[in-house]
Amino acid sequence: MANNILEGKRGIIFGALNEQSIAWKVALRAHEEGAKFVLSNAPIAMRMGEINDLAAITGSQVVPADAASVEDLDNLVEQSMEILGGKIDFVLHSIGMSPNVRKGKHYTESDYKFYQQTMDVSAISLHKTLASLYKKEALNEWASVVALTYIAAQRIFPDYNDMADAKSLLESITRSFGYHYGIKNKVRVNTISQSPTPTTAGQGVKGFAEFINFSEQMSPLGNAPATACADYCIAMFSDLTKYVTMQNLFHDGGFSNTGVTRNVIDMFGDNK
Ligand SMILES: NC(=O)c1ccc[n+]([C@@H]2O[C@H](COP(=O)([O-])OP(=O)(O)OC[C@H]3O[C@@H](n4cnc5c(N)ncnc54)[C@H](O)[C@@H]3O)[C@@H](O)[C@H]2O)c1
Repeated sequence: MANNILEGKRGIIFGALNEQSIAWKVALRAHEEGAKFVLSNAPIAMRMGEINDLAAITGSQVVPADAASVEDLDNLVEQSMEILGGKIDFVLHSIGMSPNVRKGKHYTESDYKFYQQTMDVSAISLHKTLASLYKKEALNEWASVVALTYIAAQRIFPDYNDMADAKSLLESITRSFGYHYGIKNKVRVNTISQSPTPTTAGQGVKGFAEFINFSEQMSPLGNAPATACADYCIAMFSDLTKYVTMQNLFHDGGFSNTGVTRNVIDMFGDNK
């Protein structure tokens, strides 16, 4: 259902790798709602080529940028304003990568070079993106920046590894930059904390298949699907949420406020 709530808005969407990506669904919904945007991803992800299909469907251009590179981000911001013909109204940061997770390193035996890469790509990239937008005065007043996060920032989920630390930093950057950008230009910055979702990044976490079932049983509404996450992002980009900023917004079917559910209790004991 489209209501043109992003009519006239210009955006940058990071992180659409394939049809499963949350960013892919956000791009489709933003297009339906009348937005124009630039798609971006790491140069290495361009090799898969699928992002070009999304660009064709949504009438967008693709500008590669390694989110860890200030130079790439500066170039992306400049090119986006040129391509879209003005300042930017919304940005989706949908980026996550941990070499420690990829290489199966246990949290207690983290490789610190990898650890730094996890922080740089998955968290500090949000700071770099905001800093680039800030110095180039690239965002309109009331622009909305959303980054995707996970509840492992607040609670231990052992196999989430160093991504938990990255998400804590991401959420802290959201508050800190949200303050400074709010004061300067009424820009808002939030994170959406999403349910486990079967994507390339999600399925890279050890034990994901079991974990997504557990999470389903622990959420009164069930796990939130990627399409619903996209709807929430659209709401956050729209003018209907103008005074929401510096928040971590749970989009998880109630998981974050649930101690236990009847279904999970019933898995223990004899049920007599
Ligand atoms: N899937 C889940 O269970 C889940 C749950 C909560 C939050 N999230 C978060 O959602 C976001 C999107 O992930 P997804 O689940 O759609 O998976 P995905 O694998 O489709 O997306 C991750 C994206 O990060 C991009 N990326 C990696 N390194 C990069 C770099 N150096 N520069 C630019 N881009 C880079 C990848 O190319 C990819 O497009 C991530 O922040 C992830 O942590 C995912």
